[in-house]
Amino acid sequence: MSKILILGRNGQVSTYLQRAMHSEYDLHVAGRDELDLSSVSQVYSALEKIAPSIIVNAAAYTAVDAAEEDQEAAYAINRDAVAEVARYSKQSNTPLIHFSTDYVFSGDAQTAYLETDLVGPTGVYGQSKLEGEQAVLDSQAPAIILRTSWVYSNHGKNFYKTMLNLSEQRDELNVVNDQLGSPTYAGSIASATKQLIDIVIEQGTIPADQRGVYHFTCQGQTSWAEFARAIFVENEISKMKVEGIPSSEYPTPAKRPAFSVLNNKKLLDNFGVSLPHWGTALSQCAVETKAMA
Ligand SMILES: NC(=O)c1ccc[n+]([C@@H]2O[C@H](COP(=O)([O-])OP(=O)(O)OC[C@H]3O[C@@H](n4cnc5c(N)ncnc54)[C@H](OP(=O)(O)O)[C@@H]3O)[C@@H](O)[C@H]2O)c1
Repeated sequence: MSKILILGRNGQVSTYLQRAMHSEYDLHVAGRDELDLSSVSQVYSALEKIAPSIIVNAAAYTAVDAAEEDQEAAYAINRDAVAEVARYSKQSNTPLIHFSTDYVFSGDAQTAYLETDLVGPTGVYGQSKLEGEQAVLDSQAPAIILRTSWVYSNHGKNFYKTMLNLSEQRDELNVVNDQLGSPTYAGSIASATKQLIDIVIEQGTIPADQRGVYHFTCQGQTSWAEFARAIFVENEISKMKVEGIPSSEYPTPAKRPAFSVLNNKKLLDNFGVSLPHWGTALSQCAVETKAMA
């Protein structure tokens, strides 16, 4: 049986991956206690000790605004540790599935970004994730890099949960309406990643013509304000009034791309895998929210 290593224990994507896979696979979930990615020099030997058949890297420094100040940690975890994971993957010929982000783009485009489009991160988080991608590609490891976006779920800290929490205290909210992207449910990420893992297990490797970067988001696009309205509709919270505001009225330390919709056709063409429309995925997440109540 393949031993699948998931890096990151309590993150959104890791949590949903564990739920989707625990009953069918030999999972080894490594938290910081076992494999701290900020201790870059220890990453390779920790992987040797675990000796996985497949590595899924769902760990990252994800605090977008804090990264502007905490650059050393962001680059250690998102670039240098990833380079070590990729070096191990190459040396041991262990397939690697690595997550990246829409924040590698500047957001100046008007049509959905392709994997071949020019990158241009607007902050430290995006730049550190981009350099992590480059380290994986440079290593020539048997790896795929999955760029996802606007991740939300019923677990951890995210926009979906923030909206539901705010609705307990307020009737009106101002939400940014000039950033467009694709909200992506961690449950959809987990299902599609599981499909990719099954393909990799069946093939025994990731052949050279399948390696590289893939866009990996739910389909369709929306703004944060529209997403907020949809969250309240799906959760039957009719009192909430959402006012759309420009990003200039909600300044953040790290600039966000104004447009970060990703075209997922390459994923479908090369693996026959796609994630659902964001609205469909949101309904699934809301069903889960109600079941948890
Ligand atoms: N969240 C988004 O909106 C978003 C958007 C685009 C792309 N992505 C990418 O998707 C992937 C998964 O993100 P997510 O939303 O699941 O992130 P998350 O909920 O913030 O979880 C991050 C994970 O990284 C782990 N981690 C952080 N520092 C670590 C360290 N020094 N050593 C070991 N583990 C460490 C955390 O460990 P603990 O469990 O110990 O805290 C946690 O499991 C990441 O590659 C992220 O860049 C996320």
